[in-house]
Amino acid sequence: MSRAKSTARVDGRALTHELASRESAIGVFDSGIGGLTVLQRIIEALPRENTIYLGDTARSPYGTKSVETVLRYSFENAEFLLEKGVKLVVVACNTSTAVALEALAENLSVPVIGVIEPGVRRALEATRNRKIGVIGTEATIQSGAYTRALKMHDAKIEVYSRSCPLFVPLVEEGWVDNVVAETTAEAYLGSLKRSGIDSLILGCTHYPLLKKAIGDFMGRNVALVDSAEETAKEVRAVLKQRSLARERGRGNHSFFVTDAPERFIKVGHRFLGEQVDSAVRIER
Ligand code: DGL
Repeated sequence: MSRAKSTARVDGRALTHELASRESAIGVFDSGIGGLTVLQRIIEALPRENTIYLGDTARSPYGTKSVETVLRYSFENAEFLLEKGVKLVVVACNTSTAVALEALAENLSVPVIGVIEPGVRRALEATRNRKIGVIGTEATIQSGAYTRALKMHDAKIEVYSRSCPLFVPLVEEGWVDNVVAETTAEAYLGSLKRSGIDSLILGCTHYPLLKKAIGDFMGRNVALVDSAEETAKEVRAVLKQRSLARERGRGNHSFFVTDAPERFIKVGHRFLGEQVDSAVRIER
């Protein structure tokens, strides 16, 4: 049976996708592998759902790129997922969420969920003294998206932000629990620690893998906020609301990358174990 098609226009380009059903997959994209921390929580929370993950490994990192470039890449990623017929798009990248979520949500004909608002909600629950730290890529911190979102909920919140660009390559290299990770955490996080924050948002999808080094340096009194779990809850709520949740079976998970599938699989094991057993390279 052929399914109906719907079209959205973006910057003069048409984004066409098949109308979603309960059986359609959840689409997830990131600049590379970091979004697998979010996918992991989605799979745990929604084991029946099929997922399609796109890691734009050829053009990663996004965190050092301009707004225009991140916007363009984000739309191209969403377009790929829509062509695969997904029923919902998760922007599992803080940089893309900071820069492109609003535009994506306006232009895509399926629901779009980012990682910033869920992280903000979790941080507001965690804080007692209303001093919240945010760490992320340069693009995320420069966008001010976290500060705006936090202050929109509570104007009196004090926000302390810091970009930590070296954390991403450390995670990619698997150097998450050694002296280099400890020293880098110390160098980046000293001023945040002195500011007296009691919650720290890990505003980059790679950072949950550095929880130990970050937590050891910040100490027990600072709660580390990871938006992945909260994002998965939002995905579940939206699917339920729209009667799009898959009702039976176990989900299948497929992975696409724009470069170096072998490396993605190897690094992906650190995030998701054996579930990342193959990845298909697509041309960009
Ligand atoms: N996944 C990106 C993010 O969450 C980090 C890596 C990058 O800079 O592309 O911001």
